[in-house]
Amino acid sequence: MTYLDNGATTLRKPPQVVQAVAQAMGRYASPGRGGYPAAMGAAEAVYRCRELAGRLFEAEPEQVAFTLNATHALNIAIKSLVGPGDAVVVSGFEHNAVMRPLHALGAQVTAAGRRLFDPADTLRDFERAVIPGTKAVVCTHVSNVFGYRLPIEEIAALCARRGVPLIVDAAQSAGALPVSLRNLGAAFIAMPGHKGLYGPQGTGILLCGRAPKPLIEGGTGSQSRLFSMPEDPPDAAEAGTHNVPGICGLAAGIAYVLRRTPAAILRREQALLRQLTERLSRLDGLRLYCGPGQTGVLSVTAAGADCETAAAQLARRGVAVRAGLHCAPLAHESAGTLESGTIRLSFSDFNSSEDVRRAAWALAALQ
Ligand code: ALA
Repeated sequence: MTYLDNGATTLRKPPQVVQAVAQAMGRYASPGRGGYPAAMGAAEAVYRCRELAGRLFEAEPEQVAFTLNATHALNIAIKSLVGPGDAVVVSGFEHNAVMRPLHALGAQVTAAGRRLFDPADTLRDFERAVIPGTKAVVCTHVSNVFGYRLPIEEIAALCARRGVPLIVDAAQSAGALPVSLRNLGAAFIAMPGHKGLYGPQGTGILLCGRAPKPLIEGGTGSQSRLFSMPEDPPDAAEAGTHNVPGICGLAAGIAYVLRRTPAAILRREQALLRQLTERLSRLDGLRLYCGPGQTGVLSVTAAGADCETAAAQLARRGVAVRAGLHCAPLAHESAGTLESGTIRLSFSDFNSSEDVRRAAWALAALQ
């Protein structure tokens, strides 16, 4: 199979990730819950993952909280800062992992920056939208649909100047673009463990620039005399037994990214993207959504073909993609593709030029 749905999850993992999960299952008990070797070893392994994530994202290990996925991390971040009726500014390219919690809270949401691949316009629009009284800014680093890289460093500087806390959704950038808690000065940065960090599904990270409010309460193995939750990260965000095998796999994934470097991974993915756009631009009837700085994600529409049907045809030819709205109707509305949806092809470090050739062949056969 030619797997080009890495925007959803990276299916091919480094072999050491799989080994780490299996080893942890046979070796480790519950971290922070006992002084015997299997529990102490678990605590060390979990802490090692915090250290590795801290190294990659320029954060202290204690600022690294483990979650189930990016959605879970975003829910903690948003519900730590936003209440009913609060004014929140988001980008025009947010995922439902941002929009649905804000909607459920009854926040007043302003979408800034609706023009695809236009970071100058995005920044100008944020400058207009972030005003006194704005409770928080929530911004994706990279659009999961289009690979549009938003000017997050400039948006972070704007938030700092105006004293507004920033939540960054790094779901599509962690592992491929520079993401630094220290440099961005963000309140929170949320990310999955199972995409660009090559960890198992069921893992995510919330980088905490400030104390998170617990989304759920329970045991943490710390301050056990209290009926209230510990207030500091990571414990405030981590009630209940950790996903130790998942976290050990994630540690192996992060170690892989640190060795390879995000810059080298991005170079590879962008090189494959260029090969693909070059091939597809020779085909009639396809519209490609491309722009400067695009990461390894490409959306296309095919004239006369419903995108879900087209994706099913691609699957029959052995090419796995995601089609439709990608849980991001706001992004599609911004790009003018809300009615049609798009077919999305997304790369990882494990794709090759042969995958590009097969995808182009399968798309050509749609005509
Ligand atoms: N948000 C993920 C995607 O874009 C699941 O496919």
